[in-house]
Amino acid sequence: MNKIFEYAKKPALYAKSTCAFWDDDHISKGMLEAHLHPEWDAGTRAISFVDQSVLWISEIAPPTEYKNALDLGCGPGLYAERFYEKGYTITGIDFSRRSIAYAKEQAEAKKQDITYICESYLDIKYQNAFDLMMMIYCDYGALSSSQRQIMLKKVYDGLREGGKFIFDVFTPKQYEGKEESSSWYLNEGAGFWRPNTHLCLESHYIYEDHTRVDQYVLVDQKNNLDVIRTWDHYYTKESIVKEIMKAGFKNIEIYADVAGTPYHQESKTMCIVVEK
Ligand SMILES: C[S@@+](CC[C@H](N)C(=O)[O-])C[C@H]1O[C@@H](n2cnc3c(N)ncnc32)[C@H](O)[C@@H]1O
Repeated sequence: MNKIFEYAKKPALYAKSTCAFWDDDHISKGMLEAHLHPEWDAGTRAISFVDQSVLWISEIAPPTEYKNALDLGCGPGLYAERFYEKGYTITGIDFSRRSIAYAKEQAEAKKQDITYICESYLDIKYQNAFDLMMMIYCDYGALSSSQRQIMLKKVYDGLREGGKFIFDVFTPKQYEGKEESSSWYLNEGAGFWRPNTHLCLESHYIYEDHTRVDQYVLVDQKNNLDVIRTWDHYYTKESIVKEIMKAGFKNIEIYADVAGTPYHQESKTMCIVVEK
Protein backbone atom coordinates (compact mmCIF):
# COMPACT_ATOMS: atom_id res chain seq x y z
CA MET A 1 0.00 0.00 0.00
CA ASN A 2 2.83 2.41 0.82
CA LYS A 3 4.21 1.91 -2.65
CA ILE A 4 0.84 2.73 -4.21
CA PHE A 5 0.76 5.99 -2.26
CA GLU A 6 4.34 6.73 -3.23
CA TYR A 7 3.77 6.04 -6.94
CA ALA A 8 0.49 7.91 -7.16
CA LYS A 9 2.11 11.22 -6.22
CA LYS A 10 3.48 13.72 -8.68
CA PRO A 11 6.90 12.25 -9.49
CA ALA A 12 10.24 14.03 -9.53
CA LEU A 13 11.15 15.33 -12.96
CA TYR A 14 12.12 12.45 -15.25
CA ALA A 15 11.54 9.79 -12.60
CA LYS A 16 11.67 6.46 -14.39
CA SER A 17 9.02 3.79 -14.88
CA THR A 18 9.39 0.63 -12.82
CA CYS A 19 8.88 -1.62 -15.86
CA ALA A 20 9.11 -1.63 -19.64
CA PHE A 21 6.55 0.15 -21.81
CA TRP A 22 7.43 -0.25 -25.51
CA ASP A 23 9.19 -3.55 -24.95
CA ASP A 24 6.76 -5.05 -22.41
CA ASP A 25 5.59 -8.48 -23.54
CA HIS A 26 1.90 -7.66 -23.16
CA ILE A 27 1.80 -3.91 -23.94
CA SER A 28 3.83 -4.39 -27.11
CA LYS A 29 1.03 -6.60 -28.54
CA GLY A 30 -1.47 -3.75 -28.26
CA MET A 31 1.14 -1.28 -29.50
CA LEU A 32 1.86 -3.37 -32.59
CA GLU A 33 -1.86 -3.48 -33.34
CA ALA A 34 -1.96 0.31 -32.94
CA HIS A 35 1.08 0.82 -35.19
CA LEU A 36 -0.49 -1.30 -37.91
CA HIS A 37 -3.97 0.20 -37.81
CA PRO A 38 -4.18 2.13 -41.10
CA GLU A 39 -6.29 4.97 -39.68
CA TRP A 40 -5.07 5.38 -36.09
CA ASP A 41 -2.56 8.02 -35.11
CA ALA A 42 -1.24 5.67 -32.43
CA GLY A 43 2.27 4.23 -32.37
CA THR A 44 2.53 5.22 -36.03
CA ARG A 45 0.51 7.95 -37.69
CA ALA A 46 -2.26 7.01 -40.15
CA ILE A 47 -0.81 5.24 -43.17
CA SER A 48 -1.90 7.99 -45.61
CA PHE A 49 0.30 10.38 -43.59
CA VAL A 50 3.21 7.91 -43.63
CA ASP A 51 2.98 7.82 -47.44
CA GLN A 52 2.97 11.63 -47.67
CA SER A 53 5.82 11.83 -45.21
CA VAL A 54 8.06 9.39 -47.11
CA LEU A 55 7.30 11.22 -50.35
CA TRP A 56 8.23 14.59 -48.85
CA ILE A 57 11.41 13.32 -47.21
CA SER A 58 12.47 11.69 -50.47
CA GLU A 59 12.06 15.08 -52.15
CA ILE A 60 14.03 17.14 -49.61
CA ALA A 61 16.69 14.46 -49.05
CA PRO A 62 16.61 12.34 -52.21
CA PRO A 63 18.20 8.88 -52.20
CA THR A 64 20.56 9.97 -55.00
CA GLU A 65 22.30 12.30 -52.50
CA TYR A 66 21.22 10.84 -49.15
CA LYS A 67 21.40 7.13 -49.92
CA ASN A 68 22.36 5.72 -46.56
CA ALA A 69 19.53 6.37 -44.10
CA LEU A 70 18.88 5.46 -40.47
CA ASP A 71 15.40 5.44 -38.90
CA LEU A 72 15.72 5.86 -35.12
CA GLY A 73 12.75 4.25 -33.32
CA CYS A 74 11.56 2.61 -36.53
CA GLY A 75 8.76 0.61 -34.83
CA PRO A 76 7.47 -2.18 -37.11
CA GLY A 77 9.19 -0.67 -40.15
CA LEU A 78 6.31 1.10 -41.89
CA TYR A 79 8.56 4.02 -42.88
CA ALA A 80 11.64 1.87 -43.49
CA GLU A 81 9.92 -0.38 -46.03
CA ARG A 82 8.70 2.67 -47.94
CA PHE A 83 12.16 4.26 -47.87
CA TYR A 84 13.58 1.04 -49.23
CA GLU A 85 11.11 1.15 -52.13
CA LYS A 86 12.22 4.75 -52.83
CA GLY A 87 15.80 3.54 -53.29
CA TYR A 88 17.43 4.23 -49.91
CA THR A 89 19.78 1.83 -48.17
CA ILE A 90 17.87 1.80 -44.94
CA THR A 91 18.63 0.72 -41.39
CA GLY A 92 15.94 0.74 -38.69
CA ILE A 93 16.70 0.69 -34.97
CA ASP A 94 14.16 0.06 -32.25
CA PHE A 95 14.30 -1.52 -28.80
CA SER A 96 10.88 -3.16 -29.09
CA ARG A 97 11.60 -6.83 -29.78
CA ARG A 98 8.07 -7.39 -31.05
CA SER A 99 8.25 -4.48 -33.52
CA ILE A 100 11.66 -5.50 -34.84
CA ALA A 101 10.56 -9.14 -35.19
CA TYR A 102 7.52 -8.00 -37.19
CA ALA A 103 9.64 -5.63 -39.33
CA LYS A 104 12.16 -8.42 -40.10
CA GLU A 105 9.39 -10.88 -41.04
CA GLN A 106 7.85 -8.32 -43.39
CA ALA A 107 11.19 -7.52 -45.02
CA GLU A 108 11.83 -11.20 -45.59
CA ALA A 109 8.35 -11.81 -47.01
CA LYS A 110 8.65 -8.78 -49.31
CA LYS A 111 12.28 -9.58 -50.20
CA GLN A 112 13.42 -6.15 -49.06
CA ASP A 113 17.05 -5.81 -48.07
CA ILE A 114 16.55 -3.69 -44.93
CA THR A 115 18.78 -3.86 -41.85
CA TYR A 116 16.79 -3.93 -38.61
CA ILE A 117 18.60 -3.70 -35.29
CA CYS A 118 17.01 -4.32 -31.91
CA GLU A 119 18.81 -1.88 -29.63
CA SER A 120 18.29 1.39 -27.79
CA TYR A 121 19.07 4.37 -29.98
CA LEU A 122 20.74 5.87 -26.93
CA ASP A 123 23.44 3.20 -27.31
CA ILE A 124 24.32 3.68 -31.00
CA LYS A 125 27.96 4.42 -31.87
CA TYR A 126 28.25 5.53 -35.48
CA GLN A 127 30.87 7.87 -36.95
CA ASN A 128 30.12 9.64 -40.25
CA ALA A 129 28.10 6.59 -41.28
CA PHE A 130 24.79 8.03 -42.55
CA ASP A 131 23.61 10.64 -45.05
CA LEU A 132 20.21 10.90 -43.40
CA MET A 133 18.90 10.17 -39.92
CA MET A 134 15.26 10.39 -38.82
CA MET A 135 13.33 10.14 -35.58
CA ILE A 136 9.63 10.30 -36.36
CA TYR A 137 6.54 10.77 -34.18
CA CYS A 138 7.80 13.03 -31.42
CA ASP A 139 10.14 10.54 -29.78
CA TYR A 140 12.80 13.15 -29.20
CA GLY A 141 10.71 15.03 -26.62
CA ALA A 142 10.03 11.79 -24.73
CA LEU A 143 13.68 11.74 -23.69
CA SER A 144 14.97 13.45 -20.54
CA SER A 145 17.07 16.59 -20.97
CA SER A 146 20.33 14.68 -20.48
CA GLN A 147 19.21 11.91 -22.87
CA ARG A 148 18.33 14.52 -25.49
CA GLN A 149 21.85 15.91 -25.27
CA ILE A 150 23.31 12.42 -25.65
CA MET A 151 20.98 11.69 -28.58
CA LEU A 152 21.89 14.85 -30.48
CA LYS A 153 25.59 14.11 -30.04
CA LYS A 154 25.07 10.54 -31.32
CA VAL A 155 23.12 11.80 -34.33
CA TYR A 156 25.76 14.45 -35.04
CA ASP A 157 28.58 11.92 -34.85
CA GLY A 158 26.65 9.38 -36.94
CA LEU A 159 25.98 11.78 -39.84
CA ARG A 160 28.50 12.58 -42.53
CA GLU A 161 29.34 16.24 -43.09
CA GLY A 162 26.29 17.82 -44.77
CA GLY A 163 24.03 14.90 -43.76
CA LYS A 164 20.50 15.68 -42.61
CA PHE A 165 18.59 14.91 -39.41
CA ILE A 166 14.79 15.06 -39.60
CA PHE A 167 12.63 14.78 -36.49
CA ASP A 168 9.44 16.13 -34.96
CA VAL A 169 8.31 17.40 -31.56
CA PHE A 170 5.08 18.61 -29.97
CA THR A 171 4.40 22.32 -29.48
CA PRO A 172 2.48 24.00 -26.62
CA LYS A 173 -0.63 23.90 -28.86
CA GLN A 174 -0.77 20.14 -28.38
CA TYR A 175 -1.49 20.65 -24.69
CA GLU A 176 -3.49 23.87 -24.75
CA GLY A 177 -6.32 23.68 -22.18
CA LYS A 178 -5.07 20.38 -20.77
CA GLU A 179 -4.69 20.81 -17.01
CA GLU A 180 -3.20 18.40 -14.49
CA SER A 181 -5.68 15.60 -13.82
CA SER A 182 -6.09 12.21 -12.15
CA SER A 183 -8.62 9.41 -12.58
CA TRP A 184 -8.77 5.66 -12.13
CA TYR A 185 -10.52 2.64 -13.59
CA LEU A 186 -10.93 -1.05 -13.02
CA ASN A 187 -10.13 -3.16 -16.07
CA GLU A 188 -11.81 -6.54 -15.80
CA GLY A 189 -9.82 -9.12 -17.75
CA ALA A 190 -7.10 -8.27 -20.25
CA GLY A 191 -6.64 -4.64 -21.19
CA PHE A 192 -4.06 -2.45 -22.86
CA TRP A 193 -1.73 -2.40 -19.84
CA ARG A 194 -1.98 -5.86 -18.37
CA PRO A 195 -3.13 -9.35 -19.43
CA ASN A 196 -5.30 -9.80 -16.31
CA THR A 197 -7.77 -7.77 -14.27
CA HIS A 198 -6.07 -4.65 -12.98
CA LEU A 199 -6.58 -1.20 -11.55
CA CYS A 200 -5.11 1.79 -13.34
CA LEU A 201 -4.55 5.08 -11.51
CA GLU A 202 -3.90 7.57 -14.25
CA SER A 203 -2.45 11.07 -13.77
CA HIS A 204 -1.18 13.84 -15.99
CA TYR A 205 1.23 16.29 -14.40
CA ILE A 206 2.74 19.50 -15.70
CA TYR A 207 6.26 20.77 -14.92
CA GLU A 208 8.03 24.03 -15.55
CA ASP A 209 9.68 24.61 -18.86
CA HIS A 210 7.20 22.82 -21.13
CA THR A 211 7.44 19.32 -19.69
CA ARG A 212 4.61 16.89 -18.88
CA VAL A 213 4.22 13.33 -17.73
CA ASP A 214 1.45 10.79 -18.25
CA GLN A 215 1.63 8.43 -15.29
CA TYR A 216 -0.12 5.05 -14.92
CA VAL A 217 0.01 3.16 -11.62
CA LEU A 218 -0.98 -0.45 -12.36
CA VAL A 219 -2.07 -2.92 -9.69
CA ASP A 220 -3.23 -6.45 -10.40
CA GLN A 221 -4.90 -9.11 -8.24
CA LYS A 222 -1.60 -10.87 -7.60
CA ASN A 223 -0.30 -7.69 -5.93
CA ASN A 224 1.94 -6.81 -8.86
CA LEU A 225 2.49 -3.09 -8.78
CA ASP A 226 4.16 -0.92 -11.38
CA VAL A 227 4.23 2.66 -12.51
CA ILE A 228 4.69 3.64 -16.14
CA ARG A 229 5.66 7.22 -16.93
CA THR A 230 5.83 8.68 -20.38
CA TRP A 231 7.43 12.12 -20.48
CA ASP A 232 7.12 14.82 -23.07
CA HIS A 233 9.17 17.97 -23.43
CA TYR A 234 7.51 20.21 -25.98
CA TYR A 235 9.00 23.11 -27.84
CA THR A 236 8.54 26.57 -29.24
CA LYS A 237 10.35 27.41 -32.44
CA GLU A 238 12.88 29.42 -30.42
CA SER A 239 13.57 26.69 -27.85
CA ILE A 240 14.15 23.94 -30.42
CA VAL A 241 16.39 26.15 -32.55
CA LYS A 242 18.50 27.01 -29.46
CA GLU A 243 18.89 23.32 -28.50
CA ILE A 244 19.78 22.23 -32.01
CA MET A 245 22.30 25.01 -32.58
CA LYS A 246 24.00 24.21 -29.29
CA ALA A 247 24.57 20.68 -30.60
CA GLY A 248 26.41 22.08 -33.64
CA PHE A 249 23.78 21.59 -36.36
CA LYS A 250 23.24 24.21 -39.05
CA ASN A 251 20.76 25.18 -41.80
CA ILE A 252 17.73 24.66 -39.57
CA GLU A 253 14.34 24.48 -41.29
CA ILE A 254 11.04 24.21 -39.42
CA TYR A 255 7.78 22.77 -40.78
CA ALA A 256 4.45 22.01 -39.14
CA ASP A 257 4.80 18.26 -39.64
CA VAL A 258 6.93 15.53 -41.18
CA ALA A 259 5.05 15.86 -44.46
CA GLY A 260 6.35 19.39 -45.12
CA THR A 261 3.25 21.43 -44.20
CA PRO A 262 4.48 25.02 -43.71
CA TYR A 263 4.88 25.93 -40.03
CA HIS A 264 2.04 28.02 -38.59
CA GLN A 265 1.11 29.38 -35.15
CA GLU A 266 -1.64 26.79 -34.54
CA SER A 267 0.53 23.80 -35.32
CA LYS A 268 0.53 21.05 -32.67
CA THR A 269 3.77 19.58 -33.97
CA MET A 270 6.94 20.90 -35.52
CA CYS A 271 9.24 19.06 -37.87
CA ILE A 272 12.86 20.10 -37.77
CA VAL A 273 15.26 19.51 -40.64
CA VAL A 274 18.90 20.21 -39.87
CA GLU A 275 22.32 19.59 -41.37
CA LYS A 276 25.61 18.55 -39.86
C1 LIG B 1 5.87 6.80 -31.23
S1 LIG B 1 6.65 5.35 -31.82
C2 LIG B 1 7.12 5.84 -33.44
C3 LIG B 1 7.51 4.70 -34.33
C4 LIG B 1 7.90 5.11 -35.75
N1 LIG B 1 8.90 6.15 -35.77
C5 LIG B 1 6.67 5.52 -36.52
O1 LIG B 1 6.39 6.73 -36.59
O2 LIG B 1 6.02 4.63 -37.05
C6 LIG B 1 8.18 5.36 -30.91
C7 LIG B 1 9.09 4.18 -31.23
O3 LIG B 1 10.35 4.42 -30.61
C8 LIG B 1 10.79 3.25 -29.99
N2 LIG B 1 11.70 3.65 -28.91
C9 LIG B 1 11.39 4.40 -27.82
N3 LIG B 1 12.52 4.60 -27.09
C10 LIG B 1 13.52 3.95 -27.74
C11 LIG B 1 14.91 3.78 -27.50
N4 LIG B 1 15.50 4.30 -26.41
N5 LIG B 1 15.63 3.09 -28.38
C12 LIG B 1 15.08 2.54 -29.48
N6 LIG B 1 13.76 2.65 -29.77
C13 LIG B 1 13.00 3.35 -28.91
C14 LIG B 1 9.55 2.55 -29.54
O4 LIG B 1 9.75 1.17 -29.35
C15 LIG B 1 8.59 2.86 -30.69
O5 LIG B 1 8.66 1.89 -31.68
